[in-house]
Amino acid sequence: MKTIEEIRGEIEQFKIDNNEALENFRLQFLSKKSDLQTLLSEIKNIPAEERKSFGQKVNVLKQQAQSFFDEQKKRLEDSVSYSRGTIDVTCPATAMEIGARHPISIVMDEVCTIFEKIGFTAVTGPDIEDDWHIFTALNFPEEHPARDMQDTFFIDQNPDIALRTHTSTLQVRTMERHQPPIRVICPGRVFRNEAITSRAHCIFHQLEGLYIDQNVSFADMKQTLMFFAKKMFGENTRIRLRPSYFPFTETSAEMDVSCNICGGKGCALCKHTGWVEILGCGMVDPNVLENCGIDSNKYTGFAFGLGIERMTMLKYKTNDIRLYFENDVRFIQQFASSAL
Ligand code: DAH
Repeated sequence: MKTIEEIRGEIEQFKIDNNEALENFRLQFLSKKSDLQTLLSEIKNIPAEERKSFGQKVNVLKQQAQSFFDEQKKRLEDSVSYSRGTIDVTCPATAMEIGARHPISIVMDEVCTIFEKIGFTAVTGPDIEDDWHIFTALNFPEEHPARDMQDTFFIDQNPDIALRTHTSTLQVRTMERHQPPIRVICPGRVFRNEAITSRAHCIFHQLEGLYIDQNVSFADMKQTLMFFAKKMFGENTRIRLRPSYFPFTETSAEMDVSCNICGGKGCALCKHTGWVEILGCGMVDPNVLENCGIDSNKYTGFAFGLGIERMTMLKYKTNDIRLYFENDVRFIQQFASSAL
C-alpha cells in the first residue's frame, strides 16, 4: 500500500491537460476506490495513538486533491468556451468602419474657409421660408416663372410658405437685421421641384455671398471672385464674367472659370469651350436694399451665389449629381483622406 507521502508526490506531479486526464485524476485520488480512500479504510490497523494525526493528514491531502481538481476543471471549461463559444479571444478583431465626411461638406467647408480668410462671416437661416424672403424682397416680379408651382415646393398648399429655392433669402434676412458694413457668406440647402437627372436634383446646396458698404464697386466683386477661383481651383485659373439677368442684381453676371480638367483646351466636361460656369453674381439692386431697410443712396454692394454640387463635381471630376445623395458608402469613403 502507498504511503501518504507517495500519494502527495503523485498528486503534485499530475498533469491535467484535457478532460480525460481530469477524469483519471478524479478516479485515482477522489473516487470511492481511490488510493486515498483505501488509506483511510486502513485506519483501523494503525496504532490507536497515531490514528488521529494519520486521519488528519489523509483528510488534508484529500482536500488539497479536491481543490486542485476543482481549479483544473474550471480552467479546462474556460478554455473550451473561448475556443468553441461565441467569444474567441485569440481571433483578430473585425476592423470597425470609420465614417467619412461627405464630399459636399468637404467642399462647402473649403469654400467657406476661403471667404472667411478675406473677412466674410458665415450665417445660416431656415430651409422653410415665406414668399417675402424667397421672392418679393428680392425684387421678383409677380409673374416671374420661379414663383411657379412647377419650380417651388409649397407647404400645405399655402402659397406664402415654401422650401427656399435659393440661399438668396439670407441676403434679405441679414440686411433686415444689420446695417452696413455687411460681409457675409450663407451656406445652405435649397429645394426645387425639378426632375432628378445626372445634372439636376430637387435638393442641392448653395453658398450665397453678400458685401454691402459705401463705394463698393463691380471691380471689388471681380477681385473677390477671382481670389476665390484661384484659391479653389489653382493659381493658374482664369475667370470670365458674362452679362446675365437676376431680379435682385443690376448689373448681373455669370462667372465661368477656365476648365480645370483640360486646362482650357476643351474637353467633355466644359463641352469643348474651355470654360465652366460656377456662379451667378451682380451688384445688389437698389430696390432690394430699400426693401430691406438700407439706404440705396448711401450704400452699394455685390452678391453672388454658387452651387456646391457643381463645384464638387468639378473638383472631384464626377459626372452624376445623384451620387451625392445616394450615400453609398463605397462612393463616400473615397473622399475620406481629403478631409484630413
Ligand atoms: N439665387 C440664384 C440662383 O439660385 C443665384 C444667384 C445669382 C445668387 C446671382 C446671387 C446672385 O446672389 O447675385 O440661381
